[in-house]
Amino acid sequence: MKIALFKESRAGETRVALTPDAVKTLVGEGWDVVVQHGAGTSAHFSDEVYVTAGATVTDAPSGDINLRVNPPTIEEIALLPEGSIHLSFLSPLLAQDIVRALNDRRITVLSFDLLPRISRAQYMDALSSQSTVSGYRAALAGAHYFDRFFPLLTTAAGTIRPAKVLVMGVGVAGLQAISTSKRLGAKVRAYDVRSAAKEEAESAGAVFVKLAVTADAAGGYARELTDEERLAQQAALLSEVANSDVVITTAAVPGRKSPILVTAAMVDAMGEGSLIIDMAADGGGNCELTKVGEVIEHKGVRIVGMANPPSEMGASASFMYANNVLKLLALFGTKGQLAPDWNDEVVIGVTVARNGEINHAATAEALGLAHVAITPVAKEIA
Ligand code: NAI
Repeated sequence: MKIALFKESRAGETRVALTPDAVKTLVGEGWDVVVQHGAGTSAHFSDEVYVTAGATVTDAPSGDINLRVNPPTIEEIALLPEGSIHLSFLSPLLAQDIVRALNDRRITVLSFDLLPRISRAQYMDALSSQSTVSGYRAALAGAHYFDRFFPLLTTAAGTIRPAKVLVMGVGVAGLQAISTSKRLGAKVRAYDVRSAAKEEAESAGAVFVKLAVTADAAGGYARELTDEERLAQQAALLSEVANSDVVITTAAVPGRKSPILVTAAMVDAMGEGSLIIDMAADGGGNCELTKVGEVIEHKGVRIVGMANPPSEMGASASFMYANNVLKLLALFGTKGQLAPDWNDEVVIGVTVARNGEINHAATAEALGLAHVAITPVAKEIA
């Protein structure tokens, strides 16, 4: 059976869904791998290295399994074989036209966004691996754009006080932003609405900012705050933000626009030369003034709206994504043959649609189509 690896068409994307090493592993297991010309170029993997790994390079690949990082465009979907499998990030609730077009071609649609966050699935968790890259890049962006040092320095030319960094949103990305800022010598405080975040932030080296508002939801996620809670949160955060040199925001609520944590009034209260790194800019931003992909200045405060942060480090992000792909594909087949285990909760969880039917309840509702749940078949007892 054939696996196709595509060149990403999203502007500015540097990632690729399989590295040459991952291709070598798949070829060794018996899969045919076809790679689109230039697929890995932006991550510094040349066509020649893919060929050495055992792949065939072509202009228009098509496979039984089709791999991308980003959703395909409508034009790209038209070139996918009917009845094949597609895997990428999809955010199916936000990419409804794409899901509909894939489903119309009876393509089995797998979306990394829906992978169950259970211990066994950590090796396949591309949301986490890419968030690790984003959090690291956010901390580095802080150090890069700040026109003062991060660490405490005692030098002949004077003593430098350490930068005060505030990380808002302590998920996978926030924890990485904390530990990277700490390694660079900053004094780090952190804030999140989930109660479990306190211990996690402290273990990464931050002082946790505890407010009265907590918002725990199912699956270890944060829920959306009510208007009243949001106003209480913003009032309490004003002095925290005002006292920070660098604010790094990474807060997200799955499937929804990013919550506004930093208002224009908070930015007004920050000192001249301070900085906001908004890692959630792609989802609308955590700061009211953020412009995605731009660095703007507001009354002496710079606001960096990071666009697609994992693509700033295409090689490492692709390495991690490709490892996630290999682990997930192992549940869909072995030795070059497709054999999905439809009893496996990870296989079921990651599947948006198959056989022309929508299996993910929220997507079916959003599309106005019938929801057909995949139900595990009871295993025969020998
Ligand atoms: P995320 O990207 O969905 O959100 C980032 C952070 O923003 C979260 O910590 C969230 O609580 C916070 N946030 C949301 N709204 C906020 C608000 N209004 N104010 C302040 N903070 C707000 O989070 P991510 O990184 O996907 O992790 C979500 C959860 O999943 C975490 O509990 C994490 O530990 C857990 N997880 C579990 C895994 C596993 O067991 N396989 C793997 C990865 C994450």
